[in-house]
Amino acid sequence: MKRVITYGTFDLLHYGHINLLRRAKEQGDYLVVALSTDEFNWDEKQKKCYFSYEKRKQLLEAVRYVDLVIPEKSWDQKVSDVKEYHIDTFVMGDDWAGKFDFIEDETDAEVIYLPRTPEISTTQIKKDLNMKEKEEKQ
Ligand code: CTP
Repeated sequence: MKRVITYGTFDLLHYGHINLLRRAKEQGDYLVVALSTDEFNWDEKQKKCYFSYEKRKQLLEAVRYVDLVIPEKSWDQKVSDVKEYHIDTFVMGDDWAGKFDFIEDETDAEVIYLPRTPEISTTQIKKDLNMKEKEEKQ
């Protein structure tokens, strides 16, 4: 069985996320998603999630491409995750292109960067809704 892992926050789950998860799963048979915890998002990325970790986890677990959700609590857990979960393929969106090539040197996994779906992101959704609210108040 070929095992795949990917990482992310997946807040306000949208079709860009689903495309990424589908294409990640197509790389193998079993997909592990390492989901950023609320603490990790805040402390390391200064990002506040709309949905809590538990809600984001529930949503991901309901996606047919996802087999297991584990917490992402630090930047440097990737090599140990790849070893612990016997991962064959490490997948990230191409916004991270080149940044995780070292995983191929430190483990047996292959690293693949998949192109992002254009014109959609959690940040964009938040911005658009915020603008809509402002328009309605005018
Ligand atoms: N992703 C993607 N296409 C998009 C948005 C996200 O392929 N349009 C991928 C990212 O490359 C990443 C995963 O989905 O591998 C999770 O991304 P995340 O950062 O949680 O989502 P974004 O929508 O990019 O969130 P933000 O705007 O907060 O950065």
